[in-house]
Amino acid sequence: MESGKKIIIAIDGFSSCGKSTVAKQLAKELGYTYIDTGAMYRAVSLYALNKGWVNENAINENALKADISNIKIHFTYNKTDEKYFTWLNDEMVEDKIRNIEISNIVSPVSKLAFVREAMVQQQRIMASHGGVVMDGRDIGTVVFPNAELKIFMTASVEIRAQRRFDELIAKGDNVTLAQVAENIALRDHIDQTREVAPLKKADDAIEIDNGALNRNEQFAMILDLVKERVNN
Ligand code: DC
Repeated sequence: MESGKKIIIAIDGFSSCGKSTVAKQLAKELGYTYIDTGAMYRAVSLYALNKGWVNENAINENALKADISNIKIHFTYNKTDEKYFTWLNDEMVEDKIRNIEISNIVSPVSKLAFVREAMVQQQRIMASHGGVVMDGRDIGTVVFPNAELKIFMTASVEIRAQRRFDELIAKGDNVTLAQVAENIALRDHIDQTREVAPLKKADDAIEIDNGALNRNEQFAMILDLVKERVNN
């Protein structure tokens, strides 16, 4: 389905709601670019960690602020195995940003206004040609308030923790379900209550609770919405 106009699809919602799964399915079906904005905040967190600017979850904000213009994130896509890779400057960091250590510092990092400003600027440049599926927390509210289609995804903490736990265990990480649930509940709280760009549903977003939907049902539901927008 590559015909019709190229729109911007914003997918926001809580951690581990399956946003990236459906966003990638859509990008593939539509021939669109997929942008994982959570990976960008994770990459900034890794940068701060590597520099030694994270101590007991406290961030050296001044040092990070002074260096923020040196942090450039981009993505590559390997068509053969359909995998996306996150790059932090000239290093491929995909395998270093999805562990619990980064998950534990990403909310404090992503609530910093100067971090958000820098990332939003990069996100807008990446989407400047349209034909983009972007997932995150503030895409429909802040980054693209005029996006043609906005989805807000939810599911219970229990369901989300179990999904993320299964993923981490499959990767060989050594975590407990309780640790994962605690991290998700804490990130929900910080993401929703931060001052800058808090996680909230845009007025014109369509809310989908995917707790009771399987992948295919969810994909079909959203694809119908895309077709409606593309043809109008
Ligand atoms: O989607 P994720 O779990 O990989 O995102 C990691 C963190 O980044 C999440 O806890 C909140 C933050 N984030 C954000 O503040 N704004 C976005 N647009 C995307 C993610």
